[in-house]
Amino acid sequence: MIRTDPETPDLFITPVEEVFIRNHLGPAPRLDRDTWTLTVEGAVERPLRLDFPALLDLPQTRFTAVHECFGSPLRPHVPTRAVTNVEWAGAPLAAVLALAGPRPEARHVWLEGADRGDFAGESGLTYLKDLPLDQAGAEVVLAHSMNGEPLRPDHGYPVRAVAPRMFGTNSVKWLTRIVLAAERPDHLFTTRLYTRVPPGGGEARPVREKDVGSKLLTPRDGGSVPAGACELEGYAWSATEVTAVEIAVDDADWQPAELERRGPHPSWQRFRLRCDLAPGPHRVRCRATDSAGRVQPLTGDRNAVHEIGILAE
Ligand code: MTE
Repeated sequence: MIRTDPETPDLFITPVEEVFIRNHLGPAPRLDRDTWTLTVEGAVERPLRLDFPALLDLPQTRFTAVHECFGSPLRPHVPTRAVTNVEWAGAPLAAVLALAGPRPEARHVWLEGADRGDFAGESGLTYLKDLPLDQAGAEVVLAHSMNGEPLRPDHGYPVRAVAPRMFGTNSVKWLTRIVLAAERPDHLFTTRLYTRVPPGGGEARPVREKDVGSKLLTPRDGGSVPAGACELEGYAWSATEVTAVEIAVDDADWQPAELERRGPHPSWQRFRLRCDLAPGPHRVRCRATDSAGRVQPLTGDRNAVHEIGILAE
């Protein structure tokens, strides 16, 4: 099932039933929390097998983060704007790595889910992703809860990885195996798909940190509003804090919108601008800039500025 259009997208936390679901290899595997285990193997001093109570015995963390689908790996430059904001809870991967003890040659962490199936003409695949060891150890959480409730089967029950600053593709669901290795794995979902050439050219790189993006949510695209004073609102997000959002109505200049600060977690940030709309149709665009100086492109990439059409009556 693919859902891209939440019914109440303007809530700060997206209700679980409105979070998109992306399963590449068929239906969600039905795992049982009582028999689930996670193995940690490869370049480690102490290979491990953890069960669910052992995961709960580790230090726990809770945070809110933007959960964004990159879009189809077969069309890496097409915008889908499938984005939500979710509260996760779980154990930091760092706690598990400390138990296992990475050996000096370990450079990469491979994360593998329990789903099996076919994708893009390849059969018998697992869902496998990898991250540099330093980055994974600093950021990844082994999450068992979403918005305060146990993960639902489609979202990775009982445990998934969450890489809070990265695109959703890196947050492996139904996590059952972690491998530490000196090299990256050569796999459909690591080196062949979910790679892209950076703007300006160069070598293809894995899809990891989120791009800067923004989405106008109120008024609804295609909706109508009373002519006159109108409040334009939406959310902006990035791997780092968003520092500015501008809005352009029709062909007028870009206006700075009021923007909330991000706070301690990598959540999205609300923006708003009051404007005056003459009767008739209007197009409204929003454009975000982040603290790394990245600006949404006007056209041509998956995070191009978002545009809606509204009718003032
Ligand atoms: N993990 C497994 N095991 N299998 C998958 O197909 N899809 C990935 C990621 N983790 C996937 C996975 C992709 S592309 C995204 S965008 C997110 O899960 C979606 O998470 P959600 O379905 O919980 O919203």
